[in-house]
Amino acid sequence: MAQLGTDDLQWALQRRLDDVFAKLGEKFGDLTGRVETKIRPNVSFDEVGGLQQAKAAMRGFAHALTNPELYGEWGIRPPRGILLYGPPGTGKTTLARALATEAGAIFYHLKLTNLTSKFAANTGDLLQEIFRIAMSEGRAVVFLDEADALSLEHLLPPQQAREASARLVASLCEKFDAVEPSARALVIAATSRTDALDSNLVAPGRLDHLVEVTLPDAAAQQEILELIRARTEKKAGRTLFEPIDYRRVLPVMGGMSGADASEIIRRALETKVHRVADGAAQAPVTTEDLLDAIDAYKRVRSVVEKIRYGQYL
Ligand SMILES: Nc1ncnc2c1ncn2[C@@H]1O[C@H](COP(=O)(O)OP(=O)(O)OP(=O)(O)O)[C@@H](O)[C@H]1O
Ligand SMILES: [Mg+2]
Repeated sequence: MAQLGTDDLQWALQRRLDDVFAKLGEKFGDLTGRVETKIRPNVSFDEVGGLQQAKAAMRGFAHALTNPELYGEWGIRPPRGILLYGPPGTGKTTLARALATEAGAIFYHLKLTNLTSKFAANTGDLLQEIFRIAMSEGRAVVFLDEADALSLEHLLPPQQAREASARLVASLCEKFDAVEPSARALVIAATSRTDALDSNLVAPGRLDHLVEVTLPDAAAQQEILELIRARTEKKAGRTLFEPIDYRRVLPVMGGMSGADASEIIRRALETKVHRVADGAAQAPVTTEDLLDAIDAYKRVRSVVEKIRYGQYL
């Protein structure tokens, strides 16, 4: 039989998920597009700035997928679950993708805010189906993004949320406990709200490997800005920035995340687009331009955060 290409595999997998959705959809309503899969994720750890410890930990966990036998040789079972926790926009999703890439695993991205909004306590049924598919398709990273949404606080009044969430978490824990040591599957959950997580999820054998993803310090911010600068210049196929004077830029970026840095660069470039469209000369982004972008971003940041994270901040 001819070797199936990545596109064919991606198509076949998405079809299987769509079938599950169609079946569950009869019960709960339309579900399309709520789980994204990537057969060959292509995000590398080199794209993550700072976070030395988190990167090293995640690299280590990739062995659970590539070399699970080694754990047996040392008398332990490979990890089943990892919890990435830390402030918004610090690289949690990127790290999960990078692990899947390094391990050659299929990446199943489950956004729990979306899923629970649709299925509430029945999300457990859906997760069961997705786990079943993931276990049967070869190495898998099942990524439970926005895991705090399992609390169902965003959907139901407190008392009802507690009860429904307890049922949902119990069914999820059952799935966890049933994962065979030989499954070559890792569940990675991410949250910026550890206070909203059910402690049953972090019990031994479940999400018991905790990885903190911190806000970058100044050196890490510089590394991240350089990574984003290199990435955008590669995309554009030309130099877009003058050398950046970090002695001026970093002191005004205290407390900013990688996502903030990326937004600042995007804004500085957008200003250029507008100026050039208005007839200005094509000049690269200067340190002065970046400082202006940081200033403007600071003014709207609190509003953006409120819109993005609602009551969460
Ligand atoms: N440590 C980092 N190195 C490089 N880029 C980063 C880093 N942290 C964040 N970014 C940039 O910010 C964007 C958002 O990062 P990511 O989605 O991984 O963060 P997150 O922690 O999952 O955020 P959220 O809490 O909002 O889900 C990335 O696309 C990347 O451009
Ligand atoms: Mg994320």
